[in-house]
Amino acid sequence: MKVENILVIGANGQIGSVLTQELKKKFGNENVVASDLRVKPDFEGVFEILDATDKDVIEQIVVKYEITQIYHLAAILSAKGEENPLSTWEINMKTMFNVFEVSRLNNVDKVFFPSSIGVFGDAALADATPQSTFLNPSTVYGISKAAGENWSQYYFERYELDIRSLRYPGIIGYQSLPGGGTTDYAVDIYHKAVNGEEFVCFLEENTVLPMIFMDDAIRATIELMDSPKENIKTRTSYNLASMSFSPDEIAAAIQEVIPSFKISYEPDFRQEIAASWPKSIDDSEARIDWGWKPKYNLDSMSKVMIEKLSEQYNTVV
Ligand code: NAD
Ligand code: SER
Repeated sequence: MKVENILVIGANGQIGSVLTQELKKKFGNENVVASDLRVKPDFEGVFEILDATDKDVIEQIVVKYEITQIYHLAAILSAKGEENPLSTWEINMKTMFNVFEVSRLNNVDKVFFPSSIGVFGDAALADATPQSTFLNPSTVYGISKAAGENWSQYYFERYELDIRSLRYPGIIGYQSLPGGGTTDYAVDIYHKAVNGEEFVCFLEENTVLPMIFMDDAIRATIELMDSPKENIKTRTSYNLASMSFSPDEIAAAIQEVIPSFKISYEPDFRQEIAASWPKSIDDSEARIDWGWKPKYNLDSMSKVMIEKLSEQYNTVV
């Protein structure tokens, strides 16, 4: 059987830190190279410091480890990206082109490039947003992901580079902290709740957004990458859905377990971003093409989040 050597770019991030551990379980510790701008002091395993805006360094790592698959997670997310739009565009596009070019020139077999619900804007249906619809993103992050989706398809059609992609909803996990997105509130809220603190939400109480539990998001990523090539019919990026809820609904789910939990609302600029995104997603093509099915809903996710974070903080809820 062929040995797979995996490179994760952005391995310190919210998704990267969890995905790297899962990939190590699947491919073996020595076959997964984690990389990011800096190394975390407690990281165990193979790690390379990498600024993915530098194509030569990516290439050196790909050649050194005979990399066969790249998971390119490095990006500036929706909310943070609005602080400096041109630099966000530069980083998101440059890192992506570097990964695609190095992959094509060095015969990397498969590339994972995450997209986002941020590609949708107010021209798309907000409920059960379809796979194929008009994309008019409101953020520079969304513009970079929409462009990235089209470039993924271009590299597949022109160079036969096997790039696979998911439009992740907001990801919620206990293992890591989010890095500057509009959906980050749905992680922060659990940290406050288990520590007995009130949560001040930066979105309005009835703002419904598509979300997914980290375990489901990681499983979706690995299932997509494992699928036979001929099953992958969407070469831009697949819609991916799990659950949808508003801040008052997640607060109510937490109050089922922690009745004393309190939330208040101070919406900021992120409200406008959230308002431009879908409320729910139609992911029937992912379900048909490669068998996607989520396992968690708001209640089952809340139970695990509260249990795991209480263990981490050593608090009793
Ligand atoms: P994150 O911000 O937590 O992590 C990104 C990582 O990339 C960070 O560790 C950062 O240091 C690293 N990075 C930034 N610039 C880099 C560079 N030039 N070279 C190398 N590394 C660099 O983000 P995340 O939430 O883990 O998201 C990972 C990917 O998934 C991103 O592409 C993001 O757009 C996408 N995504 C995330 C979500 C979500 O809810 N977390 C939803 C949709 C899509
Ligand atoms: N969770 C991400 C964000 O809020 C969506 O891509 O930016």
